[in-house]
Amino acid sequence: MASRTFTVAFEGAEARLVDVQVQLAGGAQPVFSVVGLGDKTVAESRERVRAAFSALGLSMPSRRLIVNLAPADRPKEGSHFDLPIAIAILAELGVVPKEMAEEHLAFGELGVDASINPTPGALPAAMAASSAGRALICPEASGPEAAWAGGDLAILAPATIIQLINHFKGTQLLARPVPGELLDAADQPDLRQVKGQESAKRALEIAAAGGHNLLMVGPPGSGKSMMAERLPGLLPPLAADELLDVSMIHSVAGLIERGSLTRHRPFRSPHHSASMAAMVGGGTKARPGEASLAHRGVLFLDELPEFHPQVLDSLRQPLETGSITVARANAHVNYPARFQLIAAMNPCRCGGGGQDGVACKRGPRCAIDYQARISGPMLDRIDLQITVPPVTPADLALPAPREGTTEAAARVLAARSAQLERGFLNAQLPTDRLDHVAEPDRGGQELLNQAAAMQGLTARSYHRVLRVARTVADLDGCEPVRRVHIAEALACRRALANAATAKA
Ligand SMILES: Nc1ncnc2c1ncn2[C@@H]1O[C@H](COP(=O)(O)OP(=O)(O)O)[C@@H](O)[C@H]1O
Ligand SMILES: [Mg+2]
Repeated sequence: MASRTFTVAFEGAEARLVDVQVQLAGGAQPVFSVVGLGDKTVAESRERVRAAFSALGLSMPSRRLIVNLAPADRPKEGSHFDLPIAIAILAELGVVPKEMAEEHLAFGELGVDASINPTPGALPAAMAASSAGRALICPEASGPEAAWAGGDLAILAPATIIQLINHFKGTQLLARPVPGELLDAADQPDLRQVKGQESAKRALEIAAAGGHNLLMVGPPGSGKSMMAERLPGLLPPLAADELLDVSMIHSVAGLIERGSLTRHRPFRSPHHSASMAAMVGGGTKARPGEASLAHRGVLFLDELPEFHPQVLDSLRQPLETGSITVARANAHVNYPARFQLIAAMNPCRCGGGGQDGVACKRGPRCAIDYQARISGPMLDRIDLQITVPPVTPADLALPAPREGTTEAAARVLAARSAQLERGFLNAQLPTDRLDHVAEPDRGGQELLNQAAAMQGLTARSYHRVLRVARTVADLDGCEPVRRVHIAEALACRRALANAATAKA
């Protein structure tokens, strides 16, 4: 009779159950084959298993050994299939009890010395074990991460196969690992360190309060990066369900260290040379991209026009839907990617163009060409677009401002609670709900009409103004959207001189 155990295959940030079946059959020639659409790493697993067995002093049977990874038509990637394959063979050879192997879900890579080494994805694998009602066997180093899956899940975290066999024999029992640390947002940079820039800081607060995307245009050294880094500190910490959601993605990417999770929202700032695979995921080894690693946090794109146009284009889907679909050889995988986009750029390639008192040798053309690199559809997704003036020495000589991250974060939290009651963050308010929840009063409507007539607002930008105005009113603790709120929203909507040209 065959033996089996279970493991998982990763599809996007999800772990799907895989049945590992082993059969030892007669035959003159010794054969060891693994079937079930594994990639090259899975095929090489045979060599690692063979080496580990010889380290244990066990010889592989000299008959036909077939390992089937079911369902056989779904692609499987990664070195974590080593351990479940080894366990199923050990059960087939009678070294560990078959029922034990069958009760467990295992993952981990084997060393040639029969050590069990960590692989990414411990948390989703543990969640899969938990929902399949099976106990988990994982590498020792992955134990603290797997333990986050919940107290009901039985976990064995051996460092070597010997330890696992001894545990099954009852000669040396393994203790259940404890979850790693939960880090709270402690030593994060404070908004108080930013001097001057009052209107830019206000825009940052509005962005945090309504979840709006933000573009900052200003000369080098004006504090754009500094402010972007301080946005996560203004956002409320991750709630329990969000923490799990975000950690699953980071786990699949192998970014969780010693099993410690953090409630601080992710902040990702990929370099402008990032490839499409690095940004949205996929590629030969399917890993979540920066956009997914920024899920429920902030994606900061510094020097926005320097990114490859295709890479920026690939962000349109997640900006619209909050998730990314990547086409693989024989499947599509989905990654969650609901991030808040913060972008920064200089007004022109050489830096200072377009600013008062700073001359650019190439004149207005330089700024126009540079700014036109950002497509209209991209700009359409950015509710707040502001100009950041240069910092003056007088600004830097100012004493530290009275208010910093703590005060601003408290206002953001209050503004968000009003939105929670409506069921949407303002940035995600569906257009058909806008009329209902963000209808301006008479003065506000007059101002909006005037602006629409004079600046030629498109339907999209009209709605963007309403969304931002709703957030400004929420920060004000004010139910109706008034003229002042519309005025502030209008002031935050155009920073690029040629935004209209760029759209044409
Ligand atoms: N408003 C400011 N208050 C205090 N320091 C600032 C400010 N703006 C810039 N700096 C200083 O200048 C450095 C460069 O700022 P940075 O945020 O990188 O500018 P940018 O991204 O606009 O080019 C910062 O590390 C900080 O030391
Ligand atoms: Mg910068």
